[in-house]
Amino acid sequence: MKIYLAPLEGITGFIYRRALFECFGGFDKYFIPFIRPNQKGHFSSREKKDISPENNAGMYAVPQILTNSAEDFLRTAAKLKTYGYGEVNLNLGCPSRTVVTKGRGAGFLAKPEELERFLDEIFEKCPLEISVKTRLGMEDPGQFEKILAIYNRFPMKELIIHPRVQKDFYKNTPNLDVFEQALQESSSPVCYNGDIFTTADYEKFAARFPEVECIMTGRGTLADPALARKLKGGKGADKAELKKFHDRIYAGYCEEMSGDRTILYKMKELWFYLAPIFPDSRKYAKKIRKCEKCRVYEEVVEELFRNESPAC
Ligand SMILES: Cc1cc2nc3c(=O)[nH]c(=O)nc-3n(C[C@H](O)[C@H](O)[C@H](O)COP(=O)(O)O)c2cc1C
Repeated sequence: MKIYLAPLEGITGFIYRRALFECFGGFDKYFIPFIRPNQKGHFSSREKKDISPENNAGMYAVPQILTNSAEDFLRTAAKLKTYGYGEVNLNLGCPSRTVVTKGRGAGFLAKPEELERFLDEIFEKCPLEISVKTRLGMEDPGQFEKILAIYNRFPMKELIIHPRVQKDFYKNTPNLDVFEQALQESSSPVCYNGDIFTTADYEKFAARFPEVECIMTGRGTLADPALARKLKGGKGADKAELKKFHDRIYAGYCEEMSGDRTILYKMKELWFYLAPIFPDSRKYAKKIRKCEKCRVYEEVVEELFRNESPAC
């Protein structure tokens, strides 16, 4: 079984990915949150750091592009090739309103003819292998039949399906019936993504879909960074590992960012997902949310690690 780390914009940047890779591992591919090509054709400084080979050393990293312009996609892919990448992922799932209203991400799924022309051009000219990460459509999961018929015309490295529609955002549950149909009909290898939070979730999924050889996890890994390792039969996270993992991420943000507020914003986002791994974390999570100074934050985190143990 192959396990991929989902791209989570704002969270799984290079600092998080490195710490995850070095402290827990277990992933066959590490997807990099989306690059949004700009008019000048330059990478932003965040994007440059995220894709730079030294920040991804040892990992199989896959950059992702969010665009509906074939020209922008191809220009970006050509630049990514010069960084040494062999595979690029196309984002056809982002549900954010600002993205969707511009016809990108999941918004592109509402324009099948344009999408097909776009795919025609990028598959003809792209110097890298292309994989696609997709939702089922904008509103109606029934839209996926037509979309899949289009995808089937192209030699995708793999098709990663998050079986929700745009209007679900992250609510409701993944539509496994439509996923099942897609699995039967896809001409590309399929990877499943969505709501795998625990080994029990995975076992339930695998019992229904024993033929699926590849899954991608996002929020499940944020909540339990040892999830991939556990799914492959390894051990759960212990306190020392979690401390090391936290300290690397915190040190990375302190080095990369300036100002207590900015650093703490990132750490609070991390703890939003991670805190429940400690069964009695509520009072610490509340204190962390209230922290305004790194000095205070460090004391709360020390106290948490001194007094609590993870539940896995
Ligand atoms: C905060 C956040 C940021 C995300 N950023 C991206 C992104 O950059 N590219 C992408 O394809 N999906 C993005 N996603 C979607 C995830 O990659 C994934 O498809 C989704 O969370 C479902 O998988 P999960 O249930 O394992 O988390 C994001 C999701 C969240 C919650």
